[in-house]
Amino acid sequence: MPIDRRTFLSASAASAAWLGLPAPDPMAGAMAGAPAAARSQGTERKPLRILILGGTNLTGPHNVRYALERGHSVSIFTRGKTQPGLFQDAFQEVEHLIGDREDNLEALKGREWDAVIDASGRKESWTRATAELLKDAAKTYLYISSTGVYYPYLKAGLDESDPPALEDPSKGKNGSYAYGVMKARSENVAREAFGEDRAIVVRPGYIVGPLDRTHRGTYWPTRIRRGGDVVVPGAKADLVQQIDVRDLTEFMIRLLERGGGGTYNATGPGTPTSMAEFVYGVKGAFSSDVTWHWIDDQEFLSEHRLTFAIPWIMPEGDHLGSQRISVQKAREASLTFRPIAKTALDTLEWYDTLPMEKQNSPPMALSPDRETKILTAWKAR
Ligand SMILES: NC(=O)c1ccc[n+]([C@@H]2O[C@H](COP(=O)([O-])OP(=O)(O)OC[C@H]3O[C@@H](n4cnc5c(N)ncnc54)[C@H](OP(=O)(O)O)[C@@H]3O)[C@@H](O)[C@H]2O)c1
Repeated sequence: MPIDRRTFLSASAASAAWLGLPAPDPMAGAMAGAPAAARSQGTERKPLRILILGGTNLTGPHNVRYALERGHSVSIFTRGKTQPGLFQDAFQEVEHLIGDREDNLEALKGREWDAVIDASGRKESWTRATAELLKDAAKTYLYISSTGVYYPYLKAGLDESDPPALEDPSKGKNGSYAYGVMKARSENVAREAFGEDRAIVVRPGYIVGPLDRTHRGTYWPTRIRRGGDVVVPGAKADLVQQIDVRDLTEFMIRLLERGGGGTYNATGPGTPTSMAEFVYGVKGAFSSDVTWHWIDDQEFLSEHRLTFAIPWIMPEGDHLGSQRISVQKAREASLTFRPIAKTALDTLEWYDTLPMEKQNSPPMALSPDRETKILTAWKAR
């Protein structure tokens, strides 16, 4: 459903605010008019020319905001379909190149950048085409991969030395395998074109925070803010991982500034965090009255098809180690972590700006009805 101008403007204003940008009013565009050099005043940082393949969905706007803040210049490359114009006032300085990774890279030809962020790598062939085209036109190529390359997650502590699968034994029938293999092969394509010393691979876990339209990251803040009888699946000690999109994108820009290549798992928090610490951390952001109902019986949870409520995912079988990925290397390379309560609050500040029909769409982990039915069955068992 198209959004009306009033909703668009208020969403843009709110988005700009939590992105740390001025309101989308060209007359009020304090930062929009300021030269990049002025914003990086007082630092020795060399301004970079950054090209983002993508840039208008989840990671892109945060990458743009932080890159501009640090005095870099940014071009983005998209088809112009995802949220056209949403940030056009806030991001006046961003060059928007139009094309299609499927069959039209004309806008990228004959140009030079210091660094490329491949944020829309959905096919190995797309990454091959852009990495080959840009290998002599840019110094560094950062490919946004995924911890999904480790699927199936058969052990705890998976790190960058564990080799990802490069063939899909399910032949496309298992989406997790297909996605992980596509990402792993795309990483290799980027490394082959740019060389190990100029290719950076960042492997995020679940990305949450403002702009997360999957609503994986909005479930717990909205649920806990609402209060009442809250069902929490799993054992209190089950470990969970997710990364605030701002922690992730700021880390990526700092990697580009540092230069060189490397592969980094990038999820959070920085130290092992249990589901109990996570939900209590979210609760710390709200004054709602909550009664917790922990359901740790895996058989019951499976019967009621409650095997995940991201970041919790039932720690068994192919997902045994999915929430216990090592982030040691990224921490040492400057990945930092916002507090859980901060992510929760900022996520809801953004969520509340969405038109009603976009809230809870796609559906969240649990609808209120389903939660009540599960709780009733749990009490009656
Ligand atoms: N969300 C997560 O939890 C998660 C976890 C791990 C890894 N990741 C990875 O993180 C990366 C970044 O995710 P994201 O959500 O920010 O971006 P994304 O949704 O993967 O990419 C969206 C961007 O790509 C552009 N795009 C899509 N198709 C295109 C095409 N054919 N040609 C040119 N541009 C195209 C879109 O604009 P137009 O539609 O206008 O073209 C939009 O700007 C992805 O590679 C994803 O796999 C995500």
